[in-house]
Amino acid sequence: MVFLVVGDANADLSSTLARFPDEGDDVPMTELGYGSGGSGANVATALAKLGARARLVTAVGSDPGAAIALRAAREAGVDLSFVETHPTVATGTCVVAISPSGERTFLSFRGANAVVSCPDFEAVFQDVVHLHVAGHALLEGEQWLTTLALMKEATRRDVPLSIDICLPLVRARAEELFALAPRFAVLFGNQSELGELGGFAPNDHGATPCEAAIAALLGAGVPLVVGKLGAEGAVVAEGSTRTLVPPFPADVRDTTGAGDGFVGAFLYAWRRGATAEGAGRLGNAAGALVVSRPGAAASLPGREELSCLLSRHGSELHSSLLANDNPTIGRAT
Ligand code: RIB
Repeated sequence: MVFLVVGDANADLSSTLARFPDEGDDVPMTELGYGSGGSGANVATALAKLGARARLVTAVGSDPGAAIALRAAREAGVDLSFVETHPTVATGTCVVAISPSGERTFLSFRGANAVVSCPDFEAVFQDVVHLHVAGHALLEGEQWLTTLALMKEATRRDVPLSIDICLPLVRARAEELFALAPRFAVLFGNQSELGELGGFAPNDHGATPCEAAIAALLGAGVPLVVGKLGAEGAVVAEGSTRTLVPPFPADVRDTTGAGDGFVGAFLYAWRRGATAEGAGRLGNAAGALVVSRPGAAASLPGREELSCLLSRHGSELHSSLLANDNPTIGRAT
């Protein structure tokens, strides 16, 4: 049973800054390194590291960046047979500036990600039980068309869909996002993304922008909206119920990829039959581990690490969810 993920694969050039610069500034870096990134590759890697089968649809360039972008996914055992290599467009690259607080700021070149073409449906959907859309995949060009085609085919096959939105998508296509909402069984967003999306939603009851976005998405037909709240944990919203899922303590070093770690762990648990709250707990545990070390995909935890963290905090979840012999459950959505 396979999780199909469509989204970006990037070579991340991560720089830790002594302080965040002003325009025209000159600021020293204290660390610099290349690593695997891109929200599509990160989520596929997160799932594979937990023991799930994951398949990635993306494109890279014919350049040294490609090996960096795909290294972690390859090592984790993600099925990369549907990754295209474009002959002339460079691999997506993200310059990540990490502030002393650990907060990341992205400067992204989308490159080959935007030109991925549509794979053969029969082959790419083989054994697929879930399609996850990493938000950048709905931004532009051929990748946008490919993603819409994959979503349509998933729906035709009764394969549930999820999406993790991103700021560029909210800014460029908010109305379309609301129109597509009923297609998703679960929608993820962080505080900034939901906050900006809330600006496009009716807010006549004094709700915060984040809550306005959640209410509008639920109203538009998404059954489950999950807000990733960073140090505050997560909120799981279904109907009129809002459940706050508490965070795990973390020594924050680099927040890059924490949201993708959350999404991978959430989907892994949820598709194994966990409640949304339980899946959020596993997502928070993964996020806490990711932020405590540098890099995106390379910092995603495996099953044992997650299990240790959960048991240290007295959580019962790990025994049933993280057991080797517990197959992915075909949750009816
Ligand atoms: O979601 C995290 C990813 O987003 C980073 O790895 C970086 O590539 C950015 O695109």
